[in-house]
Amino acid sequence: MKCNFELPASNGCQLHPRQTCSIVGQQPIVEPETLEGTVAVSFSRDVAVIGGCGHVGLPLALTFADSGLRTVIYDINLRAVDEVRAGRMPFHEDGAEKMLGRVLLRETLELTTRPDPLSQCRYIVLIVGTPVDEHLNPTFSGIIKVLDACLTYAKGKR
Ligand SMILES: NC(=O)c1ccc[n+]([C@@H]2O[C@H](COP(=O)([O-])OP(=O)(O)OC[C@H]3O[C@@H](n4cnc5c(N)ncnc54)[C@H](O)[C@@H]3O)[C@@H](O)[C@H]2O)c1
Repeated sequence: MKCNFELPASNGCQLHPRQTCSIVGQQPIVEPETLEGTVAVSFSRDVAVIGGCGHVGLPLALTFADSGLRTVIYDINLRAVDEVRAGRMPFHEDGAEKMLGRVLLRETLELTTRPDPLSQCRYIVLIVGTPVDEHLNPTFSGIIKVLDACLTYAKGKR
Protein backbone atom coordinates (compact mmCIF):
# COMPACT_ATOMS: atom_id res chain seq x y z
CA MET A 1 0.00 0.00 0.00
CA LYS A 2 1.28 3.48 -0.77
CA CYS A 3 -0.63 6.63 -0.01
CA ASN A 4 0.04 10.28 0.65
CA PHE A 5 -1.84 12.45 3.04
CA GLU A 6 -1.45 15.72 4.85
CA LEU A 7 -1.71 16.69 8.48
CA PRO A 8 -3.77 19.88 8.54
CA ALA A 9 -2.02 22.78 10.24
CA SER A 10 -5.22 24.71 10.90
CA ASN A 11 -6.82 22.40 13.45
CA GLY A 12 -5.89 24.32 16.57
CA CYS A 13 -2.76 22.23 17.28
CA GLN A 14 0.62 23.91 17.17
CA LEU A 15 1.76 22.22 13.99
CA HIS A 16 4.23 23.54 11.47
CA PRO A 17 2.70 24.79 8.21
CA ARG A 18 1.02 22.01 6.29
CA GLN A 19 3.31 19.02 6.01
CA THR A 20 3.05 15.83 4.05
CA CYS A 21 4.23 12.35 4.85
CA SER A 22 4.11 9.18 2.81
CA ILE A 23 2.98 5.82 4.03
CA VAL A 24 4.42 2.70 2.47
CA GLY A 25 2.87 -0.39 4.03
CA GLN A 26 2.62 0.48 7.71
CA GLN A 27 5.87 2.44 7.84
CA PRO A 28 5.31 6.17 7.43
CA ILE A 29 8.37 7.88 6.03
CA VAL A 30 8.81 11.33 7.46
CA GLU A 31 11.82 13.21 6.21
CA PRO A 32 13.84 15.26 8.69
CA GLU A 33 13.29 18.93 8.03
CA THR A 34 15.17 22.14 8.54
CA LEU A 35 13.03 25.19 9.15
CA GLU A 36 14.39 28.66 9.61
CA GLY A 37 15.91 28.94 13.07
CA THR A 38 15.75 25.21 13.74
CA VAL A 39 18.09 22.28 13.44
CA ALA A 40 17.28 19.19 11.37
CA VAL A 41 15.88 16.48 13.60
CA SER A 42 14.50 13.06 12.89
CA PHE A 43 11.91 11.16 14.84
CA SER A 44 11.19 7.47 15.21
CA ARG A 45 7.51 8.14 15.97
CA ASP A 46 5.01 10.39 14.21
CA VAL A 47 2.71 11.63 16.91
CA ALA A 48 2.13 11.50 20.66
CA VAL A 49 -1.16 12.13 22.39
CA ILE A 50 -0.74 13.36 25.95
CA GLY A 51 -3.87 12.37 27.86
CA GLY A 52 -4.33 9.70 25.19
CA CYS A 53 -6.44 7.35 27.31
CA GLY A 54 -9.18 9.94 27.74
CA HIS A 55 -12.53 10.29 26.02
CA VAL A 56 -11.13 12.64 23.40
CA GLY A 57 -7.50 11.52 23.34
CA LEU A 58 -8.06 7.80 22.86
CA PRO A 59 -10.32 7.94 19.78
CA LEU A 60 -7.92 10.48 18.27
CA ALA A 61 -4.86 8.31 19.00
CA LEU A 62 -6.62 5.25 17.58
CA THR A 63 -7.50 7.16 14.44
CA PHE A 64 -3.89 8.29 13.99
CA ALA A 65 -2.57 4.77 14.57
CA ASP A 66 -5.17 3.17 12.31
CA SER A 67 -4.13 5.48 9.47
CA GLY A 68 -0.59 4.14 9.82
CA LEU A 69 1.00 6.87 11.92
CA ARG A 70 3.42 5.57 14.53
CA THR A 71 1.50 6.79 17.54
CA VAL A 72 2.40 7.07 21.22
CA ILE A 73 -0.13 7.49 24.00
CA TYR A 74 1.25 9.11 27.14
CA ASP A 75 -1.17 9.01 30.05
CA ILE A 76 -0.66 8.96 33.83
CA ASN A 77 -3.69 6.72 34.38
CA LEU A 78 -1.95 3.36 34.89
CA ARG A 79 -5.15 1.40 34.94
CA ALA A 80 -6.42 2.85 31.67
CA VAL A 81 -3.02 2.33 30.03
CA ASP A 82 -3.04 -1.32 31.10
CA GLU A 83 -6.59 -1.79 29.79
CA VAL A 84 -5.77 -0.28 26.41
CA ARG A 85 -2.53 -2.27 26.13
CA ALA A 86 -4.60 -5.41 26.75
CA GLY A 87 -6.91 -4.44 23.88
CA ARG A 88 -9.83 -3.27 26.01
CA MET A 89 -11.44 0.16 25.76
CA PRO A 90 -11.77 1.84 29.19
CA PHE A 91 -15.11 3.31 28.02
CA HIS A 92 -17.58 2.62 25.25
CA GLU A 93 -16.95 4.12 21.85
CA ASP A 94 -18.62 2.60 18.79
CA GLY A 95 -16.15 0.57 16.73
CA ALA A 96 -13.16 1.58 18.86
CA GLU A 97 -12.31 -1.82 20.31
CA LYS A 98 -11.98 -3.35 16.82
CA MET A 99 -9.77 -0.46 15.80
CA LEU A 100 -7.71 -0.92 18.97
CA GLY A 101 -7.21 -4.60 18.14
CA ARG A 102 -6.03 -3.67 14.65
CA VAL A 103 -3.49 -1.08 15.74
CA LEU A 104 -2.06 -3.32 18.45
CA LEU A 105 -1.66 -6.07 15.88
CA ARG A 106 -0.03 -3.70 13.39
CA GLU A 107 2.12 -2.24 16.19
CA THR A 108 1.35 1.34 15.22
CA LEU A 109 0.22 2.19 18.76
CA GLU A 110 2.32 2.16 21.91
CA LEU A 111 1.46 3.31 25.39
CA THR A 112 3.54 4.81 28.14
CA THR A 113 3.01 6.25 31.60
CA ARG A 114 6.33 8.11 31.37
CA PRO A 115 7.04 11.16 29.23
CA ASP A 116 10.46 9.99 27.92
CA PRO A 117 9.21 8.66 24.52
CA LEU A 118 7.86 12.12 23.68
CA SER A 119 11.35 13.08 22.52
CA GLN A 120 10.93 10.58 19.68
CA CYS A 121 7.61 12.03 18.45
CA ARG A 122 7.44 14.53 15.62
CA TYR A 123 4.09 15.99 16.71
CA ILE A 124 2.65 16.23 20.19
CA VAL A 125 -1.05 16.68 20.84
CA LEU A 126 -2.06 17.69 24.36
CA ILE A 127 -5.58 16.74 25.48
CA VAL A 128 -5.99 17.03 29.22
CA GLY A 129 -8.81 18.68 31.10
CA THR A 130 -9.25 22.34 32.01
CA PRO A 131 -11.78 22.02 34.85
CA VAL A 132 -13.71 25.15 35.81
CA ASP A 133 -13.18 27.04 39.08
CA GLU A 134 -15.88 28.43 41.41
CA HIS A 135 -16.54 31.23 38.90
CA LEU A 136 -16.86 28.71 36.07
CA ASN A 137 -13.60 29.89 34.51
CA PRO A 138 -11.35 27.17 33.10
CA THR A 139 -8.23 26.42 35.15
CA PHE A 140 -4.97 25.76 33.37
CA SER A 141 -3.04 24.15 36.22
CA GLY A 142 -3.38 20.70 34.61
CA ILE A 143 -1.90 21.94 31.35
CA ILE A 144 0.95 23.76 33.13
CA LYS A 145 1.69 20.60 35.12
CA VAL A 146 1.91 18.52 31.95
CA LEU A 147 4.12 21.07 30.22
CA ASP A 148 6.45 21.17 33.23
CA ALA A 149 6.76 17.39 33.11
CA CYS A 150 7.16 17.13 29.34
CA LEU A 151 9.04 20.15 28.04
CA THR A 152 12.41 18.53 28.68
CA TYR A 153 11.49 15.89 26.13
CA ALA A 154 10.53 18.27 23.32
CA LYS A 155 13.15 18.84 20.66
CA GLY A 156 13.41 20.85 17.49
CA LYS A 157 11.64 24.17 17.25
CA ARG A 158 11.00 25.91 20.59
N1 LIG B 1 -15.29 14.45 26.29
C1 LIG B 1 -15.87 15.35 25.50
O1 LIG B 1 -16.93 15.10 24.90
C2 LIG B 1 -15.26 16.71 25.26
C3 LIG B 1 -15.83 17.55 24.31
C4 LIG B 1 -15.24 18.77 24.06
C5 LIG B 1 -14.11 19.16 24.75
N2 LIG B 1 -13.57 18.33 25.70
C6 LIG B 1 -12.37 18.79 26.38
O2 LIG B 1 -11.28 17.94 26.02
C7 LIG B 1 -10.38 17.82 27.14
C8 LIG B 1 -10.20 16.36 27.47
O3 LIG B 1 -11.47 15.82 27.82
P1 LIG B 1 -11.70 14.28 28.02
O4 LIG B 1 -13.17 14.08 28.11
O5 LIG B 1 -10.92 13.48 27.02
O6 LIG B 1 -11.06 14.08 29.47
P2 LIG B 1 -10.71 12.70 30.18
O7 LIG B 1 -10.70 12.97 31.63
O8 LIG B 1 -11.57 11.60 29.64
O9 LIG B 1 -9.22 12.42 29.68
C9 LIG B 1 -8.10 13.14 30.10
C10 LIG B 1 -6.94 12.17 30.16
O10 LIG B 1 -5.78 12.92 30.49
C11 LIG B 1 -5.00 12.15 31.38
N3 LIG B 1 -4.11 13.05 32.10
C12 LIG B 1 -4.44 13.96 33.06
N4 LIG B 1 -3.33 14.60 33.49
C13 LIG B 1 -2.29 14.09 32.79
C14 LIG B 1 -0.88 14.35 32.80
N5 LIG B 1 -0.34 15.24 33.64
N6 LIG B 1 -0.08 13.65 31.93
C15 LIG B 1 -0.63 12.71 31.09
N7 LIG B 1 -1.95 12.42 31.06
C16 LIG B 1 -2.78 13.11 31.89
C17 LIG B 1 -6.02 11.45 32.28
O11 LIG B 1 -5.46 10.32 32.92
C18 LIG B 1 -7.10 11.10 31.26
O12 LIG B 1 -6.90 9.80 30.71
C19 LIG B 1 -11.05 18.60 28.30
O13 LIG B 1 -10.47 19.88 28.36
C20 LIG B 1 -12.49 18.66 27.89
O14 LIG B 1 -13.12 19.80 28.44
C21 LIG B 1 -14.12 17.11 25.96
